[in-house]
Amino acid sequence: MNILLLGSGGREHALSWKLAQSPRVEKLYAAPGNPGIADHAECVSLDATRHQEVVAFCAARDIHLVVIGPEAPLVDGLANALRAADIPVFGPDKAAAQLEGSKGFTKDLCARANIPTAAYVRTTSLAEARAELPKFGLPVVIKADGLAAGKGVIIAETESQADAALVDMFSGSFGAAGAEVVLEEFMVGEEVSFFALTDGTAIVPMGSAQDHKRVSDGDTGPNTGGMGAYSPARVLDEVCERQAMERIILPTVYTLASEGTPYNGVLYAGLMLTSEGPKLVEYNARFGDPECQVLMMRLEDDLAELLLAVAEGKLADYGAITMRDECALTVVMAANGYPGTPEKGGAISGIDAAEAGEGVKVFHAGTALNDGALVANGGRVLNVTALGSSIAEAQARAYKAVDAISFPTGFCRRDIGWREVAREAG
Ligand code: AMP
Ligand code: GLY
Repeated sequence: MNILLLGSGGREHALSWKLAQSPRVEKLYAAPGNPGIADHAECVSLDATRHQEVVAFCAARDIHLVVIGPEAPLVDGLANALRAADIPVFGPDKAAAQLEGSKGFTKDLCARANIPTAAYVRTTSLAEARAELPKFGLPVVIKADGLAAGKGVIIAETESQADAALVDMFSGSFGAAGAEVVLEEFMVGEEVSFFALTDGTAIVPMGSAQDHKRVSDGDTGPNTGGMGAYSPARVLDEVCERQAMERIILPTVYTLASEGTPYNGVLYAGLMLTSEGPKLVEYNARFGDPECQVLMMRLEDDLAELLLAVAEGKLADYGAITMRDECALTVVMAANGYPGTPEKGGAISGIDAAEAGEGVKVFHAGTALNDGALVANGGRVLNVTALGSSIAEAQARAYKAVDAISFPTGFCRRDIGWREVAREAG
């Protein structure tokens, strides 16, 4: 089969790497792709916001499956246009993608389906938000409703911080995404990411991961898109996973289906493991980045077959997903300046030496070729990823590979996986 993969980051490099291993894939296209993805796919230039152009490309190239990597085209309804043209697509329609596109939508769904999550209120004006604020105590969580590239969440420790965040959001600092603001109760616990694939009816768990969102060691400094991840996250034990499936994932999928907006794709649940069991922090409508990289390293199955089964509504026949028992860990190498303005154009070398290490794969995120030389071209630049029999072993292999890479204008955290390494050390 011929596949079109949309996206250009480390997540999509991992997906293309795994898709290309499938004997069922004849031709893999990626739009726009990146220099790492180009090892596995023909990179083409397609504007994902022009839905009919994507549909026309699929017809012209006999595409059997479209895999949408990032959230923006999902929230924008690209999957609707493809489904309307009878092209199987992995990723939810616009209505179901509201799980990521609108935090208020998700909170209302949780309320309708009795899904455990933080208490909340949706507000549409500064006056309304100020009036609601005292009901929450401190700290309080303040969220822009729409997509804000991971930056639309403020945890305010004081009343003046909370008020400043509200003023900021309602004055348009997040554009339309901040026209509505959700106030939430602050939940205490350890966070974990849980992934499940669904075609709207069947639901199959894919495993857990833990991300490191802060830029600096010890989970300090500003939030980022993620500086590293590992899988599995054993803090989500069997009991917690069953509770998450029964209390959160299943009711979400069934409620969306019963309301006529079935979800097709991967459900990425951000969970808080509280003293009362797992509670939903947020949903994403796509794989995590960099969580996808560690999941792809651990996936034993043929990814093309799996994603096609989801896209065609045949997941019930597919059955369970097999993941390796081994652990995987990825370290993000970012360009100096990230998560502010990253320095572009810095030289990168040594990837081959890094990949000579046992169990190592280096995924490209923000890279480009400049006269044939690999350079940095984004905030998160490389995802240095390794398998190991434990998180500690995967971590040691990943950092050995990091040290084989020369990227003088970049940096990385040195403690990815620290929670699990400490748990393993007991
Ligand atoms: P979100 O984009 O909704 O995942 O929020 C970003 C981060 O803010 C999460 O990963 C959590 O660390 C934190 N967060 C969001 N909502 C809450 C909450 N209700 N209680 C505690 N922390 C939260
Ligand atoms: N790593 C966090 C995310 O993909 O949203």
